[in-house]
Amino acid sequence: MYDIKPKTFDLKSVNGISARQLDEHYKLYVGYVTNLNKIWNTPYIPSNYTDSNPTYSKMRSLKLGETYSLNGVKLHQLYFQNMTGGNNTASGPLLKAIIDQFSSYDNFISYLTNVGLSMRGWAILSIDSIDNRFHIIGSDLHDTGAVWLSYPLLVMDVYEHAYFMDFGADRKKYISTFIKNINWKVLNNRFAKYVSALQITNMKRYNKYPFELPY
Ligand SMILES: [Fe+2]
Repeated sequence: MYDIKPKTFDLKSVNGISARQLDEHYKLYVGYVTNLNKIWNTPYIPSNYTDSNPTYSKMRSLKLGETYSLNGVKLHQLYFQNMTGGNNTASGPLLKAIIDQFSSYDNFISYLTNVGLSMRGWAILSIDSIDNRFHIIGSDLHDTGAVWLSYPLLVMDVYEHAYFMDFGADRKKYISTFIKNINWKVLNNRFAKYVSALQITNMKRYNKYPFELPY
């Protein structure tokens, strides 16, 4: 029996985005949790799925709902977590690594902003296991553009539901407000976990061909 509970976030610490906007957004996240529990509690009964096909079928609906709600849960948790907490100064090993790769902090923010302006769902700074480098991934939906074995470090929601109540169509203003609320302590913790996991993986599985840690 799946009974995943929504996480709670101290959204009172967010500056420049109203409580009403954040509350309504949080309700959407809770809805994804509810639907994920429903989907994962659906028993597999073969006789219910005799119509399976890639156009319209019960299994197709179940699988599309599963990836949409599962990614919806994960991405919103990462988003709310990395925009709360009040530690809003870019700093730490992650900032140094970002500057190494993107030339400057301003260049990174410019790139992130333009990805955010260009997508309909998400802009995500991730580090990819294939090259251990940063990539800013653009996604139109929770389950569109998702990249396997790519570790998200900074998650920015650019769905209209994230900002329209406060900012209308001025997405650029929302993005700049969001950026001011980034909790770099959270980001640095995520980065440290990735580097730590990479070191363990290298020792156990790739000792013949060790990857060079990029940072
Ligand atoms: Fe959202």
